[in-house]
Amino acid sequence: MPNPRDIDLSALKNMPSKTKRQWRFLAETDSTNAEIARMLADHPPEQGLIVLADSQTDGKGRLGRTWHSAPGTGVYISTLIRPNLPPEQLPILTLMAGLATVIAVNEFTSNRAQLKWPNDLLLNEKKIAGILCEYYPKNIPAVIIGIGINVNQTQFPTNIKEIATSLKLETGKEINRTALIKQLITQLDFQYSELKKYKVETLIKNWTRHTDLFGKTITLKKSSQSITGKAIGLDNLGRLIITNESGEETALDSGEVRLG
Ligand code: BTN
Repeated sequence: MPNPRDIDLSALKNMPSKTKRQWRFLAETDSTNAEIARMLADHPPEQGLIVLADSQTDGKGRLGRTWHSAPGTGVYISTLIRPNLPPEQLPILTLMAGLATVIAVNEFTSNRAQLKWPNDLLLNEKKIAGILCEYYPKNIPAVIIGIGINVNQTQFPTNIKEIATSLKLETGKEINRTALIKQLITQLDFQYSELKKYKVETLIKNWTRHTDLFGKTITLKKSSQSITGKAIGLDNLGRLIITNESGEETALDSGEVRLG
């Protein structure tokens, strides 16, 4: 890609890694997740793959939304993994990627970013990053982990400007994207290898340290339904557990959380 000043491609390519992996840098693409999906059939299964773009024309968010991906400002990155997990445990990977992202982002801000189940990162109550994991079960099952981080944006389109923020807006400082991507990839490698070594409980415990959701009353919207209760934790499948007034627990596997 035409090298934006703060992206040092060779420093990223030379990052130490236990597994061999290919890096692909693009000035512009539709979506880094879609780029990996197109490469999937021909990519050697034993090799890792990371796609980084300076901008996306069709950045994908969860629930069919778009991810604002202007050039020169954000981190738009996807990585390919071939997890050995049963399909019902795959949501754990979104939590794993969220944990890696929050730890990386918090290296650059003194106010702590918080995880919002299942895939959001909020800083000062506005969205600063999001995760989109996509599962491709054909042949050798693959998961594409897509991460978008708002880094040096100083403005957002009208439709999201009340709910989105960036590291620069919150800290007042220009952030070097290479430094942030290095932290992110280091954390992703680390959290994924921890997940393979230890029990899911360890990941859930660490994820819980980075959220302020538990103990609060939330409403979860899923299609046309909504359910309200107090969020009390996550179970070992990464589902959100809420209780109602009579203390009955419900485990929720997807949807959109609103406070109150
Ligand atoms: C969300 O919060 O809804 C998830 C947003 C995920 C955005 C990232 S940007 C890199 C990767 N490529 C995409 O098209 N989407 C993800």
